[in-house]
Amino acid sequence: MATTLIDGIAELVTNDPDQGDGSPLGLIHDAAVVADGSTIHWVGRAVNAPAADRRIGATGRSVIPGFVDSHTHLVFVGDRSAEFAARMAGERYDGGGIASTVATTRAASDDELRTALAERVFELHSQGTTTIEIKSGYGLTVDDERRILQLARAVTEETTFLGGHVVPPGAERDEYVRLVSGEMLAACAPYARWIDVFCEPASAHAFDAHESRTILTAGAAAGLGLRVHANQLAAGPGVQLAVELGAVSVDHCTYLTGADVDALATSDTVATLLPGVEFSTRSPYPDARRLVDAGVTVALATDCNPGTSFTSSMPFAVALAVREMGLTPAEALWSATAGAALSLRRTDIGRIAVGARPHLTMLAAPSHVHLAYRPGVPLARPIQLGERT
Ligand code: NIG
Ligand code: FE
Repeated sequence: MATTLIDGIAELVTNDPDQGDGSPLGLIHDAAVVADGSTIHWVGRAVNAPAADRRIGATGRSVIPGFVDSHTHLVFVGDRSAEFAARMAGERYDGGGIASTVATTRAASDDELRTALAERVFELHSQGTTTIEIKSGYGLTVDDERRILQLARAVTEETTFLGGHVVPPGAERDEYVRLVSGEMLAACAPYARWIDVFCEPASAHAFDAHESRTILTAGAAAGLGLRVHANQLAAGPGVQLAVELGAVSVDHCTYLTGADVDALATSDTVATLLPGVEFSTRSPYPDARRLVDAGVTVALATDCNPGTSFTSSMPFAVALAVREMGLTPAEALWSATAGAALSLRRTDIGRIAVGARPHLTMLAAPSHVHLAYRPGVPLARPIQLGERT
């Protein structure tokens, strides 16, 4: 396979503390990388770089690992901008709007959904994201959840069954929980790596701890890894349930008690923070500083969805995490790359090291600090070397 030398890199973020300056970002200045379409072969100072078949000059720019967007809901059609406008005028978010997207998505053809998905994936990629996790959850029937996951599977391995998003209108709660953990799970598991549930007793639409436990344990028995939407609307049992069941990630974490932080700190569960949600629902931002100081692994993702966070921009999540959640620019970038990779139990992405995948993103800036320093400016672009998953 043809190799490419990328040189002239003013600052290379490797996320490998054994390389470069020894910090968690493993910064190398005046750096170069050699890779082919599937693997990184060499990383170091440009003066020592080996020859390659072709060359890309980074000319004083920064190169970072591609963003890992570990939490999205990209398969849907239907507009909810009026709901957003109402919230900005004082309405509260309670998950009730999900039913509107379920109705429009059920009514859409496969082709309509595929086209909408492809446009969103293009949007994410063009802003420097190289790995995308995609959840179902806007079908909520056996056939609709399965087709959503089949469409998602065509663009990523990181697919998540979220039949436990809300109880659909007209369904009886206990019967629906049985369906999700029985027939729907069996139909969807072949197309999913993960299972997720919206555990939020503060919402009449979402699931309580008992219902969430039923769905998650059924998913684990079917061989799926666990993820949980928890503590988005109020403090509740979701975070501690996620830790108890060994979930790989617990997402949102907007309202945390001291006991939640302690439970996360003594576990392997990653706290995935989604600052686009607090922005778009006018909620308080979670205290990421407190989590990092307690020793919790923090990831950042967009939660791209039409209800609570219709952004596809990982740089926006990074900027919010720095400005509003107490992370340094270095910590926020680590969380959006290496931290998010850990939340998918992946070590082949989220870092720039020999043997890792060649998922590289170039910044039109000399340092990663510009991601937060220049919010809203389209600085990040993927370097096209090969496939992304
Ligand atoms: O991650 N909270 C639950 N699910 C999504 C929102 C879905 C919607 O409102 O359409 C979330 O915020
Ligand atoms: Fe979500």
